Amino acid sequence: MLTAGNALELRAQVENESCERAFDASRARLDFPILRHRIRGREIAYLDNAATTQKPQAVIDAEMSFYTSECSNVHRGVHTLSQRATASFESSRDVVRDFVGASDRKEIIFTRGTTEAINLVAQSFARPRLQPGDEVLITEMEHHSDIVPWQLVCQERGAVLRVVPVTDSGELELEAFHRLLGPRTRLVGIVHVSNALGTINPVRDVVRAAHDRGAVVLVDGAQAVAHIPVDVQELGCDFYAFSGHKLYGPTGIGVLYGKRELLESMPPYQGGGDMILSVTFAKTTYNELPYKFEAGTPNIAGAIGLGAAIRYLGALPFTAVMRHEDELLRMATEALSSLPGLRVIGTARRKTAVLSFVLEGVHPHDIGTIIDLEGVAIRTGHHCAQPLMERFGLPATARASFGLYNTISDVEALYQALQHVEEIFR
Ligand code: ALA
Repeated sequence: MLTAGNALELRAQVENESCERAFDASRARLDFPILRHRIRGREIAYLDNAATTQKPQAVIDAEMSFYTSECSNVHRGVHTLSQRATASFESSRDVVRDFVGASDRKEIIFTRGTTEAINLVAQSFARPRLQPGDEVLITEMEHHSDIVPWQLVCQERGAVLRVVPVTDSGELELEAFHRLLGPRTRLVGIVHVSNALGTINPVRDVVRAAHDRGAVVLVDGAQAVAHIPVDVQELGCDFYAFSGHKLYGPTGIGVLYGKRELLESMPPYQGGGDMILSVTFAKTTYNELPYKFEAGTPNIAGAIGLGAAIRYLGALPFTAVMRHEDELLRMATEALSSLPGLRVIGTARRKTAVLSFVLEGVHPHDIGTIIDLEGVAIRTGHHCAQPLMERFGLPATARASFGLYNTISDVEALYQALQHVEEIFR
């Protein structure tokens, strides 16, 4: 019998499903002006979203509108333009706070991108704390930006960098993680979604285990935020870093989320204007959060553009977008796996948006160059994850990565172009 209770449930389900059906990637594609261009007479099959995403008109308009009607510096002027610019800039901070589920806008620091956010934590959090013999634990699937900052700080402080290995399928070896997490581990750095494999890591479990051992956790969320829901409070992480440009926003802007008490306890990363309350030659007192970590004129237009990107994404049915991207990944994996000599690198059970592969006897750069002739854009190389490539005994892979505007036609274009590569080399 249909009771009032289950009628409501049914309606919610139907609404959910119709919401999901309502996402139309071909329509969303029209929001991205660059995708109207043709390359050598063909529609662009842009499958390099892990490197950077394209920008919707809403983001382009937001940046343009800043420059045409608000352009001014922030936090520094009593005049109208400066007030407007400050309001737009700070409103983006609120948008970011809501987007990642932070409880306090003071926990949202604008940076140049993920790389700067991680370097900030390495230099301001880890450097003053690490003692000789302390350990920083990262994983074999980290991007260079979550390796080198830790190497720099470990070398300087006499600390030890330990690495959790990955399995043949590209998952973390969790037993090894628990074994390596020791009494000297001060910080764990882990990528949420691997840029080279697409693996989604069990960040919540990692955070819980690290906290049990008294270590803090920094999550590199560069490849996660556009593809899976992120709630920093639910994850429990101490720091979460991501970039605007992989989230349909501008380049040169990113975010560091940090727990307020940790950020309060850290010295500034850089000195300059806006990060101070008062300066004399004898002594400087620092500004409150988040400004303590935002020295100099920030990327105002970038922050406003990032806010517009998150608003754009927020207006889409995100569950349906995720399903759409998962479906593209599934179809592409199935289609490409049928090509002779093609091997998928990274077959984790939980993956999103990234399909790395090699083709026997063909260098990935050749693949990339040949399929570009057919308008298909992918990335080839080591993906700034050389230790991971070494783990798989490869110098490079070819990588197709998906975004919300990709369609089945893009997968077909990739498949057909790879067939032509096969024909040339066989
Ligand atoms: N980190 C970016 C990528 O994976 C640039 O391509």
